[in-house]
Amino acid sequence: MTAELVFERIAIRAFRNITAAELDPAPRLNLVSGDNGHGKTSLLEALYVLCTSKSFRADKNAEVIQTGAEAAQIGARIVEGGLCREQRAVLRPKARTFSADGKRVAKLSAWAVKTPVVVFHPGDLALASGPAQGRRTLLDRVALFLEPVSADHRLRYQTALRERQRALDERGPRAPELDAYETLLAEHGAALCRTRERTAARIAEALGPSFERMAAPGLRLDVRLHSAGSPDPELFRRALAEARPVDVRRGSASFGPQRDDLELWVDGRSARRHASQGQQRVLSLALKVAELDCVRQARGAHPILLLDDVSSELDAERFAAVFRLLCEVPSQVFVTTPRPELFVMPEIAPTDRADFTVCAGAVRRAR
Ligand SMILES: Nc1ncnc2c1ncn2[C@@H]1O[C@H](COP(=O)(O)OP(=O)(O)OP(=O)(O)O)[C@@H](O)[C@H]1O
Ligand SMILES: [Mg+2]
Repeated sequence: MTAELVFERIAIRAFRNITAAELDPAPRLNLVSGDNGHGKTSLLEALYVLCTSKSFRADKNAEVIQTGAEAAQIGARIVEGGLCREQRAVLRPKARTFSADGKRVAKLSAWAVKTPVVVFHPGDLALASGPAQGRRTLLDRVALFLEPVSADHRLRYQTALRERQRALDERGPRAPELDAYETLLAEHGAALCRTRERTAARIAEALGPSFERMAAPGLRLDVRLHSAGSPDPELFRRALAEARPVDVRRGSASFGPQRDDLELWVDGRSARRHASQGQQRVLSLALKVAELDCVRQARGAHPILLLDDVSSELDAERFAAVFRLLCEVPSQVFVTTPRPELFVMPEIAPTDRADFTVCAGAVRRAR
């Protein structure tokens, strides 16, 4: 059974240009409109930070804290399957705390699966055509829900990878500490490779149907993980040891899952290199729908969907596909747009929908 999951009350303080906002969203569709630069994306970003501990557009906390304020704060009452909880995030320039029902959460990977959320912002339209990093992030977001332990492997792997490179840069390929780092890398890297294989297979399963619904009929889609590591720890360790001289010259590790890619092929040709721009955008949208589907199934709840201003970037046909998705998914959805008049949706009952406006960081209920 899949549980209903909704934000019931949201309070935001000193987050970007939102000085103070309180809103009671509707259970299905929440439309957030306003002119450019007034705070629409910031509102979605605040919700995303609350649910995942990270922003989808900033690397540092300091960027989201309102200029002149000490801390940004986001709180929400969340109801899942009839049970209510309060989640709260406080971000300071050098520290961030997350708490649920007053209890502080120490492990961010556990926090990130508590309230599942999927975001789609204009930058995601390049998911299929852009650098592999975007597709790896998607893989890892899904893996977090399928195999939560993967977050620990990833963290330990990344730390050891940095340390190994530092040893290589500073002391060269014979540095004595390299053996220990490479043993650690082999253990966590091979585990990560196995998780990525399983996750890619799951995404491929979900991507087929979502692509078929949105793309021209008859297009064949293949999805495969191009693994740059090995699922076998011993092979992994040997490959790293052999790559030391190359990695000194490159200044980075040439072997390992940090170089994986989720490759997408349309009608036997690489989507990145050969698909049309329209096909690449459909594939990007379909990847997000696949993420939604995988997370829903793994987590047993309908993830909250955040759609940031996709209407401005899509042609009529693609926009219609997003529209259908909005009407069909049972998730609570937050959509931002500078053009609310496009969102005439008689399928959604008035009590299930709330419209908000954002003007100079002030959020108001419009209807
Ligand atoms: N740390 C900060 N403190 C105060 N204001 C900020 C901070 N960071 C960004 N801003 C401002 O917040 C405003 C809101 O930006 P946001 O991206 O949310 O707008 P938007 O409504 O999504 O616009 P668009 O329609 O162009 O996407 C911008 O004017 C920006 O200059
Ligand atoms: Mg915006």
